[in-house]
Amino acid sequence: MITIRAGQVKDIEAIVETQVKMAYETEGLALERDTVIKGVQAIFGNPNKGQYYVAEEDGRLVGVLLTIPEWSEWRNGCVLWIHSLYVLKEFRRKGIFKKLYQFLREKVENSSELAGLRLYVDKTNVNAQKVYEKLGMNRDHYLMYEWFK
Ligand SMILES: CC(C)(COP(=O)(O)OP(=O)(O)OC[C@H]1O[C@@H](n2cnc3c(N)ncnc32)[C@H](O)[C@@H]1OP(=O)(O)O)[C@@H](O)C(=O)NCCC(=O)NCCS
Repeated sequence: MITIRAGQVKDIEAIVETQVKMAYETEGLALERDTVIKGVQAIFGNPNKGQYYVAEEDGRLVGVLLTIPEWSEWRNGCVLWIHSLYVLKEFRRKGIFKKLYQFLREKVENSSELAGLRLYVDKTNVNAQKVYEKLGMNRDHYLMYEWFK
């Protein structure tokens, strides 16, 4: 039985694990663990930065995502960006992301302040792209550009 709930401080260690695994799996990156711990703690220290949601089975965290709010004055509403999405390998293709996604969809549909959901995905992550399209998201609208120091 999978349950979806907001992330809590007690989840920090498990969330960090997922992010270390995700960076290695999707980009071959070995993240600095201490940096990720501080990064996750920062979210819990300031709810304006974002909100984690977790999927749990028998008390074990098996999936996670982070929503980051972006205000849209065009809509006078808030778009939630989905980040840090990871489902443990042995739990994939069992509908866990679908449950997380439906949870967020309902949250948006039931809120007068929330306008929609967005995410970006690495061009090479074809599996995730298939998943998003299966769930009805589309990529018709924007290209993304970036700069990092
Ligand atoms: C992408 C990811 C989160 C999907 O999670 P998941 O729990 O396995 O997805 P679900 O089981 O809820 O699948 C949702 C739908 O996508 C389909 N799907 C899942 N994986 C798929 C794949 N590899 N190829 C094609 N379709 C797939 C499912 O069949 C389901 O479709 P349905 O509703 O018609 O049955 C998971 O594969 C993952 O953690 N990947 C590694 C990290 C990653 O890539 N994160 C995203 C970064 S942007």
